[in-house]
Amino acid sequence: MGHRVIQWSTGNVGFHSLRHIVRHPDLELVGVHAHSRDKVGRDAASLCGLPGETGVVATDDVDALLALDADVVVYTTKGETRPHEVVPELERILRAGKNVVSTAMIFLIYPPHADPKLREPLEKACHEGGTTLYVNGIDPGFSGDALPLTALQLADRVDELRVQELVDYSTYQDPEFTGVSFGFGRGADYTPPLARPGVLRFSWGGMVAMLADALGVQLDEVRESFERSYASEPFVTPMMRVPAGGCDAVRFQLEGMVGGRPLIVTEHVNRLRDEAAPDWPRPPAGRPGVHRCIVTGSPGVQLECFVTGEDGDHNTGGVQATAMRVINSIPAVCAHAPGLVSTLDLPTMPSRNLRRG
Ligand SMILES: NC(=O)c1ccc[n+]([C@@H]2O[C@H](COP(=O)([O-])OP(=O)(O)OC[C@H]3O[C@@H](n4cnc5c(N)ncnc54)[C@H](OP(=O)(O)O)[C@@H]3O)[C@@H](O)[C@H]2O)c1
Repeated sequence: MGHRVIQWSTGNVGFHSLRHIVRHPDLELVGVHAHSRDKVGRDAASLCGLPGETGVVATDDVDALLALDADVVVYTTKGETRPHEVVPELERILRAGKNVVSTAMIFLIYPPHADPKLREPLEKACHEGGTTLYVNGIDPGFSGDALPLTALQLADRVDELRVQELVDYSTYQDPEFTGVSFGFGRGADYTPPLARPGVLRFSWGGMVAMLADALGVQLDEVRESFERSYASEPFVTPMMRVPAGGCDAVRFQLEGMVGGRPLIVTEHVNRLRDEAAPDWPRPPAGRPGVHRCIVTGSPGVQLECFVTGEDGDHNTGGVQATAMRVINSIPAVCAHAPGLVSTLDLPTMPSRNLRRG
């Protein structure tokens, strides 16, 4: 048996994370944390839609979980809106000798870029506990590190490096967080959290800073932009009902500027229906979403990534991929020296869960 794992929370990402862990031949589930009262006391299998029982029951007893013999916590709690609770909880886990791979706290994707108020207590806890923390996902995460770092291996002169997430979010059933923070369904009088100055830089800026360091370049500044389009008539999606005048698509970008022009750009276009914002970039025909990296230069390089979930949906695929990005990192993170790490510190981390027979 490989690594002993505690799954922390079973929301959108955690549901799929737990499903992958329970079925993974190299991982042993030893504990599950549940915050929601109705999840406490339930077997892990029932929390992730699998048949039978695992014998591992969800608990909100943090001391009992930290007393378990476990190598790593897969941490998928809602993080960004609750840093004052999440940072102390992560400190406690790391100090107790458990490594952490996390999809939460996207501010820590590239620790050198993170606010010292977040980074420093966690670094201290890692050193006290002899543990390592890695935060990643699909975007921010894979699309802004593995994808461009791979494309750059084929490039010579780089004029612009652009990372895009062009994804229809209509089937992403996360109206409370993604819906609210992007402003979907709301009118122009509502200012969503992501539109506030500095929030994009804080959230996705780690990707841009990491790529600047990988390219060995000092950015003069990082510019933010945030635009919305609005529905002319009401419509209904699995995520939400959008009224006439409600936001049906969002486009935002961060531009890492050098010498007065953008060198490193991360761009999102997220629609709630295909016909929204027809002039904005879109995925290839027939595809509901793409993570794309474009190196403009010589030679030009373009890589595209499409994910599909076990139910055939691209948003499920994105959530599963987010979970797997950190689950696949477990061997590398557990073998790493204590501290906060980024993708630049780790080897490539392929899945080794092969279908046999
Ligand atoms: N980088 C990427 O590509 C990417 C993609 C998707 C998500 N993420 C990040 O991954 C994290 C999880 O996302 P998600 O969509 O799975 O989140 P979610 O479903 O909204 O919430 C996850 C869990 O957080 C716990 N929780 C919620 N409110 C809480 C509170 N007030 N106190 C304690 N626990 C609370 C609940 O745990 P219980 O299940 O125990 O009740 C909930 O199920 C987020 O931080 C998100 O930003 C990153």
